[in-house]
Amino acid sequence: MEKLFEGKTVVLTAGPTYEPIDPVRFIGNHSTGKMGYALAECFASRGAQVQLVAGPTNLQAQHEGITVTPVTTADEMYAAVKRLAPAADIWVFAAAVADYKPKVVATKKIKKTGAELTIELVKNVDIAAALGKEKRENQFALGFALETDNEDSNAREKLKKKNLNMIVLNSLNDPGAGFKHDTNKITIIEENKTTAFELKHKSEVAQDIVNLIWERLYV
Ligand code: CTP
Repeated sequence: MEKLFEGKTVVLTAGPTYEPIDPVRFIGNHSTGKMGYALAECFASRGAQVQLVAGPTNLQAQHEGITVTPVTTADEMYAAVKRLAPAADIWVFAAAVADYKPKVVATKKIKKTGAELTIELVKNVDIAAALGKEKRENQFALGFALETDNEDSNAREKLKKKNLNMIVLNSLNDPGAGFKHDTNKITIIEENKTTAFELKHKSEVAQDIVNLIWERLYV
């Protein structure tokens, strides 16, 4: 494999975040982290130094070029990315960050006293958007979007809102794509271009993404 990314640093978020409700419960999602880890392996196999900021997953990074910073919550993920991002050439936001967190985390286990329980939620930091405000000219940012309708226009809106160079669109309308599968079917959206790919294994999808980033940055 050609070490095309030798000397480059990539910061990559992956997996879900868990937002605690009390000492034993949390709000989470079904992200496995597979797409993010596949991207980390692909960048590393091409010579990049990868800083992988990972929410809770069962996965283990294999390549020695990958340094993992394990985190649990969106706030922890943001703190780690904020620290690592300024020194990186490429930012990849592949994590399924919980959009909301409980306003108050109970210090003791919540007992089932009433027939109903209301948990007040507040918005989490949008890591990609916050970092987007600090992105330099020579830095490249890639994000993901999972959409069910108005896919193209929703993804383009996120591209702008989060100051991304590229957004990978997963459609929930495509069988075999998204959270729980080893395969994914993506469309890569840039300001002036849309590139559609076939359904593939996530490791091959990662190669397609990394190839296109290479083309945009260095060809
Ligand atoms: N993202 C992030 N921090 C968040 C939420 C999302 O960094 N708090 C990143 C994801 O990693 C992904 C991109 O932003 O790369 C798109 O996330 P998504 O949840 O689809 O977008 P939202 O702006 O939250 O829009 P929606 O209302 O559709 O959830």
